[in-house]
Amino acid sequence: MSTTAFANRPRFDAVEKVRGSLRYAADVPLPGMHYAMMVPSRIAKGRVISVATEEALALPGVIRVLTAADFPPPPVPVPGSGGPPPPPTIIDEIAYRGQPVALVVAQSLEAAIEGAEAVTCTYAEAPFSPLIDSEGGERQPTPEVKAGDAAASMDRAVHRFKAEYQTPAQHHNPIEMLSTTAVWENGRLTIYEGSQHTAGVKNGVAGALRLDPRLIDVKSPSTGGGFGQKGAAQRQSALVAQAAILTGRPVKLVVPRGQIFHNATFRPRSRHSIELGADAGGRMIAVRYDADQQQSRRGQFPPHYHDSPVQLYGVDYLGTAANVRIDTQSPGYMRAPCEQPGLFAFESAIDEFAEQLGVDPVAFRLAHDTAVDPTNGRPLSSRHLHECIREGARRFGWERRSRAPGSMIAEDGTQIGWGMASGAYQGLTTPTIATLRIGADGSTRFAVAGHEMGQGIRSVIAAVLMDGLAIDPAKLDIQIGDTTVAPQHITAGSWGTASVVPAAHAAVQRMNAAMEELLAGREVGGNLHRKLATVRRPSLQVEVSNVAPGQGPEALDRLRQTGMQIAGPDYPDFTTFSYIAHFVEVRVEPRTRRIRVPRVVSIADCGRVVAPRPAESQVRGGVVWAISAALREETEVDPRFGGWLNSDLADYVLAVNADIGEIDVGFIDKPDPLTNAVGTKGLGEVAMVGASAAIANAIYHATGKRLRELPIRIEDLL
Ligand code: MOS
Repeated sequence: MSTTAFANRPRFDAVEKVRGSLRYAADVPLPGMHYAMMVPSRIAKGRVISVATEEALALPGVIRVLTAADFPPPPVPVPGSGGPPPPPTIIDEIAYRGQPVALVVAQSLEAAIEGAEAVTCTYAEAPFSPLIDSEGGERQPTPEVKAGDAAASMDRAVHRFKAEYQTPAQHHNPIEMLSTTAVWENGRLTIYEGSQHTAGVKNGVAGALRLDPRLIDVKSPSTGGGFGQKGAAQRQSALVAQAAILTGRPVKLVVPRGQIFHNATFRPRSRHSIELGADAGGRMIAVRYDADQQQSRRGQFPPHYHDSPVQLYGVDYLGTAANVRIDTQSPGYMRAPCEQPGLFAFESAIDEFAEQLGVDPVAFRLAHDTAVDPTNGRPLSSRHLHECIREGARRFGWERRSRAPGSMIAEDGTQIGWGMASGAYQGLTTPTIATLRIGADGSTRFAVAGHEMGQGIRSVIAAVLMDGLAIDPAKLDIQIGDTTVAPQHITAGSWGTASVVPAAHAAVQRMNAAMEELLAGREVGGNLHRKLATVRRPSLQVEVSNVAPGQGPEALDRLRQTGMQIAGPDYPDFTTFSYIAHFVEVRVEPRTRRIRVPRVVSIADCGRVVAPRPAESQVRGGVVWAISAALREETEVDPRFGGWLNSDLADYVLAVNADIGEIDVGFIDKPDPLTNAVGTKGLGEVAMVGASAAIANAIYHATGKRLRELPIRIEDLL
């Protein structure tokens, strides 16, 4: 590929986005549609004894009420194993408050809501453990993460630091609500669902309803934000599918926000204990880091808190992590799942240790580097963290910072704080299969795995195709998020661009070669469509595939079968990570103690930048969320009843536009030489990683107060 920069075009879907004309799954109109509403459990744990449906069925417009009797019985769990997780259907065993106990289907949304309110249940209640420190929580450690001999290094440390940090439960809240629309026709099930993983929905629904997955198609035309919440079959998916099968009508369910809080995955509460050691010269030589997270009784979201911190500084490291099983719905992946809370804790601790050692936090980080993966000694494919830090410091004006906390005060008494932190996120890849067809009629169709959830994957694909092929951009159709067009993999873990771009790049090369072959030396002018018309070919199609380093063709088969075949960050010969450095200014108002973040500089190393505009937006979005996660968001439990207290957007407080100042984004933009042919690494999640710590570090610099629990609020600074 040429080394010139990709053209800086507008987003591929910019016009539709601005006009509001992009079509999302719940917008698909179907004749004869029925509407569904779930009935949530009123208890936090126990069994449903009976469900009274008569009153609901007597209401005008109510067609049917589905209960546990309408679903295959759940597999009997092996005694003592705790698992597998219960199927996402309706079952009598209640594991958390808000779990669906019935589904009402009606001719109108209003009738479905009224019907759901008319269904009543009797329960056998059981005692429950609502909080991470409740009696009855079960702590289950997972395998240690190790680099070098941290215990021996800690023993010989001359300087030591130890502190505890906490982060709250938080919920994703994408703008697009969770929804499922299902149609059962001629023995086939078609599901429209805003998703990051249409193949996962297909397989999840097939498993839950014991159907052949080959009978199911899943389509997610555009997704209005995913962030990990839409990465599998959702709680309502199989319920709506079964309703469509049993009623023979298209059925749509848009899950109300309060039920999303209770039924979707979320970021679990976590606790972090971090000990750091340095030698007499102030060189950090040992890290001991123990993390616990809230978990459901049978949930599987792993507490992988050490993936990123172990990679930052090339220091001996011992990390342990544990699930604390309580009575909640299952937590799950939420943007930078463990890296966001983990690097808040770790990069706060690094800042505190630098302060204790009397070293500037930038200088302290620059004094610790690694060219290899500390866990296995293999080389890193690329690492420009220090360039991120230096460029960030330069743009931010870090050298003008006065060191002492509380020493930068504006004329009106406002305390100014400057803080910074680093971030890292693993570089993953999934195999990809794509077809590219160019028509003499001017059309171009590229069909591939991937889901557009606002991050701009269509823009990235378009950039590669339009830079490499003489085609008409107005008639470029990028077909993604559809199990009928190409084998779909989950779009998550920041591997979308790094997996799809090499496939698009290969398709460009294959297409240009195929065209040359077709022309066989004839001189034909114009773009590719024109050339095809001249030689009287209606269209030309190529198929390409891309696998991760170290993967063979069998990875493509596994992708076709499972929709999941992820490789990295440790490839056979090297390890790949993306990096970022964040610099933050906070201002603390002297009387109200209100915290503002007027200015952020974030410099990322994501390899080669293919589509600069969506890339900058990604970083801005990540920083916005980090501000929100640091200063606003917490989902609170009602320990009397279980479930979430603030389960709506009035009470679950988010950062809004007025909370966000200037966010200056920069990229190192150096191609990674090893992970793929184009040199891209992931960006979506690293964008957020470390930024919450930079905010907390800035608040310390402004006020002299170390705040080790998120969110940080006015009352913490009174
Ligand atoms: Mo992301 S939390 O892997 O969608």
